[in-house]
Amino acid sequence: MTVGIMGLGYVGLPLAVAFAETGHDVVAVDVDARKIEALGRGDSYIEDITSQRLARVRDRIEATTRAANLSRCDAVLVCVPTPLTPNREPDLGPLVAATRSLADVLQAGQLVVLESTTYPGTTRERMAPMLEESGMVAGRDFNVAFSPERVDPGRTDYTLRNTPKVIGGLTEACGDRAEELYRCVCDEIIRVSTPEAAELTKLLENIFRSVNIALVNELAMLTDRMGIDIWEVVDAAATKPYGFMRFEPGPGMGGHCLPVDPFYLSWRAREFDLTTEFIELAGKVNQQMPYHCVAKVERVLNSAGKPVHGSRIAVIGVGYKPGVGDVRESPALKILSLLGALGAELAYHDQHVPVLPDGGLSSVDLDQALDGADLALIVTAHPGVDYDTIIERAPLVVDLRGVTRNAGARSTVLL
Ligand SMILES: NC(=O)c1ccc[n+]([C@@H]2O[C@H](COP(=O)([O-])OP(=O)(O)OC[C@H]3O[C@@H](n4cnc5c(N)ncnc54)[C@H](O)[C@@H]3O)[C@@H](O)[C@H]2O)c1
Repeated sequence: MTVGIMGLGYVGLPLAVAFAETGHDVVAVDVDARKIEALGRGDSYIEDITSQRLARVRDRIEATTRAANLSRCDAVLVCVPTPLTPNREPDLGPLVAATRSLADVLQAGQLVVLESTTYPGTTRERMAPMLEESGMVAGRDFNVAFSPERVDPGRTDYTLRNTPKVIGGLTEACGDRAEELYRCVCDEIIRVSTPEAAELTKLLENIFRSVNIALVNELAMLTDRMGIDIWEVVDAAATKPYGFMRFEPGPGMGGHCLPVDPFYLSWRAREFDLTTEFIELAGKVNQQMPYHCVAKVERVLNSAGKPVHGSRIAVIGVGYKPGVGDVRESPALKILSLLGALGAELAYHDQHVPVLPDGGLSSVDLDQALDGADLALIVTAHPGVDYDTIIERAPLVVDLRGVTRNAGARSTVLL
């Protein structure tokens, strides 16, 4: 088969490589010419795909900015971003643009699968009609399905291969086509009856995480006041063999998905005269966390007789989660900006993020970050960081991830 991928980011590039590795030809399309150039050179820009792995399948992947080249594909998977507008409403701009350019070159018999996370109804009500502007009919002349991506960047135990893949076809035949395609790269396929069910499945997964993270974060704010160690409580609760699932407190939610996707559903729900209270509440609590963390830093410095203004703070880890360099919606950015506004002198260390997106600060090595620091603030617990050195060298440590909780250091304050 020849498989087309539109959008070569965290979702699209691993998919392109997976299909190429199973012997298929891939037409990989992105509007970002820098990504296409990088792929042309054989340079991967996604942590989960090494350049060596890319090199092995380079001959099978045609990376291009030309959507017209998708006309020779058997199937096209759409993996473009689905962000929010500044008013926190779904921004289907990239999806509409990608679908329009695909409609221009769509061929009879092709399968189109949307992988981007979105509200129930997008595939049927937005995507299929745009594709039908080609003059062909969805479900009759070409197939359409929704199959949510479940990739968890940085994770190695669950990959595309061994994570069950949910598929909802516009028709039974559309679902069959999509199932046949994904069987090449996934061991287990879960069929649901409609694209809407598949769209909502993905949102349920993300909302579940968002709500549970918010719950434990709210408890962390409470235990802070009550003088109870939240980590000890979470550790103890997690010993229950059933009926409890562990979620960690932290400085807030980041990434492209959790802070964004749930609002796709709350927006859609308003059309059905329903306010999705859990989503809104979880968003509210999680948004408070960076402020809570900064207040904690203020208190810790204060107890050492220091104001935030003029204090040197070494921020350790700015990626939105361990092991990745993605800083989209990372709570570290909010924390840095709040501390900066209070007059702190900031440095950060993150081996995955050489420069912050606004072009302001650049990562320095750990020693340099700790040189003369009044306080080290662990925001993201990347693996491979020498936390013993941080505890040893920084006069004060605020650990928002609980990574130093077993070290028993007196200078360390946990979230
Ligand atoms: N990152 C994740 O962990 C993850 C996990 C599951 C689902 N998702 C969902 O998958 C989708 C993609 O996410 P991502 O993290 O890969 O995004 P990304 O920003 O890393 O990649 C998207 C790519 O699409 C390209 N693009 C934008 N408009 C285009 C167009 N018109 N034609 C072709 N390419 C275009 C962008 O240039 C970019 O390279 C989103 O809906 C996201 O919610 C992401």
